[in-house]
Amino acid sequence: MRKKVTKAIFPVAGLGTRFLPATKAIPKEIMTLVDRPLIQYAIDEARAAGIKEFIFVTSRGKGALEDYFDIAPNLEQELRKKGKKDLLAILRSTNMDSGAIAYIRQHKALGLGHAVWCARRLIADEPFAVILPDDVIAAETPCLRQMVDAYAETGGCMVAAMEVPPEKTGSYGILDVGDSNGPVVEVTSMVEKPKKGEAPSNLAVIGRYILTPSVLNNLNKMRTGVGGEIQLTDAIAQEIGKPKGAGVYGLRFSGQRFDCGSKSGFLRATVAFGLARDELRDDLADYLREIVHMDRAAE
Ligand code: G1P
Repeated sequence: MRKKVTKAIFPVAGLGTRFLPATKAIPKEIMTLVDRPLIQYAIDEARAAGIKEFIFVTSRGKGALEDYFDIAPNLEQELRKKGKKDLLAILRSTNMDSGAIAYIRQHKALGLGHAVWCARRLIADEPFAVILPDDVIAAETPCLRQMVDAYAETGGCMVAAMEVPPEKTGSYGILDVGDSNGPVVEVTSMVEKPKKGEAPSNLAVIGRYILTPSVLNNLNKMRTGVGGEIQLTDAIAQEIGKPKGAGVYGLRFSGQRFDCGSKSGFLRATVAFGLARDELRDDLADYLREIVHMDRAAE
């Protein structure tokens, strides 16, 4: 029997400079998509995949994240007094069980691989998930759930995969693939942020991973890669070609991915998640039609 994936690492140490000045005083992960901070989407997805332990790799200035997952006794008391049961229920969905959540500091910004390595002692000898909260994925079956189900068949390491426009391959980990079985592909090589003309394909790694503890061993070597950073992609690549039950697989997940690390991606996600909400759909759709119409009329 394969060990269940019950731990997830959330690398949230980044400065979020692309969203300055907003991120001067709040962590990027607290920025709000409709009415929930980005990190809540990542946590909900992890929970839906059976994750029980949540490990945040943070840095200076991320205190608001810790407060967000703590109970808010005064606020709860006020709401209780006023009989606001619906709001209390919303609050409750943000609370974490005692001991279910851990925070580790990454003291230096040495790359995604290094951030994951910082959590090694809490992972020990189990498979684990990594979720990059910037990548928000809208899907009927949440993306990590799809991966956990596929991993039950394959074992080894699994990355979420999606085709990106060829001119964007330099922003991603890019896969070369061999045999496929439905949406699962066998990875034959992977390269982080390939130079122009050197990408093996346009199939990119999206920020969801299921990894074996041997990836943490590979990270022990502290090898730097592209950009002088310790790259997670390089540590996963060392697992390629291992015998069945190990090796590296990609899952072409079903769903729509939003790059909430970019402003336009964040705005698109805001519109899409707004339109997905019953109480907002009609009003927002009317408004969008109106401004598109005005735009056309001005042409
Ligand atoms: C990271 C990974 C990259 C992956 C991307 C997905 O890059 O290093 O392999 O394709 O996330 O969003 P970053 O966006 O942190 O530069």
